[in-house]
Amino acid sequence: MKNVRQAKITAVGHYVPEKVLDNFDLEKLIETNNDWIISRTGIKERHIAAENETSSDMSVKAVQELLEQRKMDASEIDILIVATVTPDMLFPSTAALILDKLGVKTSWGFDLSGACSGFLYALSSGAAFIKAGTAKKVVVVGVDKMSSIMDYTDRNTCILFGDGAGAVLLEADDNGYGIFDEIMYTDGEGEKYLHMKGGGCLNPATHETVDAKMHYLKQDGKSVFKYAVKGMQEVSEEILEKNNLTGKDLSLFIPHQANLRIIDMVAKRIGLTPDQVLINIDKFANTTAATLPLGIWDALQDKRLKKDDILLLAAFGAGFTWGSTLIKWE
Ligand code: UT7
Repeated sequence: MKNVRQAKITAVGHYVPEKVLDNFDLEKLIETNNDWIISRTGIKERHIAAENETSSDMSVKAVQELLEQRKMDASEIDILIVATVTPDMLFPSTAALILDKLGVKTSWGFDLSGACSGFLYALSSGAAFIKAGTAKKVVVVGVDKMSSIMDYTDRNTCILFGDGAGAVLLEADDNGYGIFDEIMYTDGEGEKYLHMKGGGCLNPATHETVDAKMHYLKQDGKSVFKYAVKGMQEVSEEILEKNNLTGKDLSLFIPHQANLRIIDMVAKRIGLTPDQVLINIDKFANTTAATLPLGIWDALQDKRLKKDDILLLAAFGAGFTWGSTLIKWE
């Protein structure tokens, strides 16, 4: 049987800022302690961007690493898709700023807002351009400077997030490798549990919105936790069943890294052993859209992905948004 055209990942780049904020640093800012953070979240430290270091700056470094790996010039990028909830500014898009910093004038790109599932949404969009033959080389970036929307007096949120960027290159494959299935969901009822209400047209910046701390991320952690476990479990089970696979068939599961307890529960419920699961929340915390590409990058560093491996990605985030993607690795 002839293989259908799929999009496969042919290079991966990453960037995390130099500055590390560990749990002991947070003990000096808020009423918390290292043991609580580790036992309730699995996080030991997170990277924090410099004040003048933006999402586009971090993305450029991740994309440059990818270009070096693939030995290609930035001008060969046909389309650049950027998943982020912390764009440099509302417009122009972060994609436009990245392309400019890379010196590219011959391609196009856009931003996409899917919060912690943003990278999966962007990967799906990029793959569609490849499969349709509209583009030969699509770069998908997941980036967030979460520190720019954190209230460092709110211990419920500021311990959870970090900054970083990851980028993958998508190219066509006709031999059965690449992204072979995906399931995505959005449910806007989740807005009440996780949001940043200021800065958009509903609440443009005023002295009042700033005083009310509306330009910071707010969440009902307990509710998000429950929905995240349920969402990631169900969408992972759904994609496995649809493809006649079980947990045993997976070489690696890279889940969104919001809380180690969420990851453990999901992994256990879909029948995985700890060696099948990638964990890097301890060193990066939740980097929102950057989490999954940083996970893929980490897996490659540790040689945890080889030819013919079946990789499952799953994410859950603000919206609510959630999804799963299956990849046969080449
Ligand atoms: O990708 C989507 C993005 N977000 C998430 O997925 C996050 C999902 N939620 C979570 O990860 C967890 O709900 C948290 C880590 C945010 C909170 O963990 P929890 O086990 O649900 O704790 P809790 O909110 O029920 O708080 C338990 C206690 C409370 O004290 P009392 O009321 O029992 O006296 C909190 O005030 O822990 C207290 N607490 C803290 N203590 C030390 C809350 N935050 C902290 C803290 N340090 N940073």
